[in-house]
Amino acid sequence: MAGIPHDHYEPTTGAEKWLHRRLPIVGLLYDTLMIPTPKNLNWMWIWGIVLVFCLVLQIVTGIVLVMHYTPDTTLAFASIEHIMRDVNGGYMLRYLHMNGASLFFIAVYAHIFRGLYYGSYKEPREVTWIIGILIYVLMMGTAFMGYVLPWGQMSFWGATVITGLFGAIPFVGEALQTWLLGGPAVDNATLTRFFSLHYLLPFLIAGLVIVHVWAFHHTGNNNPTGVEVRRTSKEEAEKDTVPFWPYFVIKDMFALAVILAVFFAIVGFMPNYLGHPDNYIEANALQTPAHIVPEWYFLPFYAILRAFTDEVWIVIIANVLTGGIIDAKFFGVLAMFGAIVVMALAPWLDTSSVRSGRYRPMFKWWFWLLVVDFFVLMWLGAMPAEEPYNTMSLIASTYWFAYFLVILPLLGVIEKPLPQPETIEQDFDEHVAKTKGGAGEAAPTPAE
Ligand code: HEM
Repeated sequence: MAGIPHDHYEPTTGAEKWLHRRLPIVGLLYDTLMIPTPKNLNWMWIWGIVLVFCLVLQIVTGIVLVMHYTPDTTLAFASIEHIMRDVNGGYMLRYLHMNGASLFFIAVYAHIFRGLYYGSYKEPREVTWIIGILIYVLMMGTAFMGYVLPWGQMSFWGATVITGLFGAIPFVGEALQTWLLGGPAVDNATLTRFFSLHYLLPFLIAGLVIVHVWAFHHTGNNNPTGVEVRRTSKEEAEKDTVPFWPYFVIKDMFALAVILAVFFAIVGFMPNYLGHPDNYIEANALQTPAHIVPEWYFLPFYAILRAFTDEVWIVIIANVLTGGIIDAKFFGVLAMFGAIVVMALAPWLDTSSVRSGRYRPMFKWWFWLLVVDFFVLMWLGAMPAEEPYNTMSLIASTYWFAYFLVILPLLGVIEKPLPQPETIEQDFDEHVAKTKGGAGEAAPTPAE
């Protein structure tokens, strides 16, 4: 694919020319920062920067926490209390890290649903999307293992329940579970390996983020119209775009500042709001908590996991057809991972020729129903596994799959899309005219 034509870095001084001939790093940074960006991006395009901020925050606070944390079952809980009470600013570090994980997931869900609405996953951005899904799965793994480290009741029992799921896999399940745990049950070997991986994975995520950014810099950003930047000449491209610096840097920094004001208020005044009080009780293998509830960001997928009980007809059929190999537990595991796989396949399941949901009148309804479905699943994941929640979970899980496997492929065929603007410039100018009450003229392009 031809790139968007724009100015590239030209070294001017002797020193710049010397370095550029040997290592074009300044050119790389220049081209990254000055990348032509569609000038009509709305506020839903801020989440990528929030995500980068969260990743850095988690790595920095995590590295300092490690200086005082002890990954040993006899000391882990006490070392967290030590951080909270004795280490200078330790409580702040821990609360930043704890709530930073929640902000990270808020941002990633907003980012994913933005992509789903504006069709950012569609050709040619499939690789950006797939890498995004990989990052998301790694984020879930990292957060899950991190939650085990304080060695509270929820750490221990959450780890027991979730690793127990692997035991449901036919034939290899038990061996796999033992291998994951480093023994027959959650114990010291589990804590140390989770600690090791919890430290490692964020760096893997950082590497994938670089590839993610590389991929969408190569294709160019999507935008609310889904119409591509004109690439035939530099003059036309300049009418559709502005350089990332300073325009979007300032916009993103403003958004980040607003989000951080709320984030710091939560960290300062209600840091345990999203946590579970049972995790302030040290892990006890002989005392199961009344309800084992995962962190809020796992709840939608936890609800899907529990939705398929052995009374559900599809589970009964699968059980009979496979001679008992697929039971309710294994079906639940397959459904939970399947829910993420169908999302990854969205680029190929969505058959519409129109990218942005803005011009898809039927799609919009189904999309917003998916958003509601996601929150309903989140609520159901926190409810006890009994009626009416089981049936509700089944209905909500079914919709999740139906959206990707039936509705997206079908809509492309039956839906009549609305007319799209010819160019990004046209969309931008119309927006400016509207916000100025029809009296305004388009903002100058940087070239003017
Ligand atoms: C650590 C996690 C992530 C980081 C730091 C990150 C960063 C970014 C950034 C900076 C952008 C540029 C546009 C924007 O700000 O929205 C972007 C675009 C994009 N991201 Fe992510 N992302 C992450 C995770 C994900 C996930 C989990 C998905 C989907 C499953 C995803 C899918 C996309 C797509 C499709 C685009 C292209 C949209 C466009 O070109 O405008 N990303 N990402």
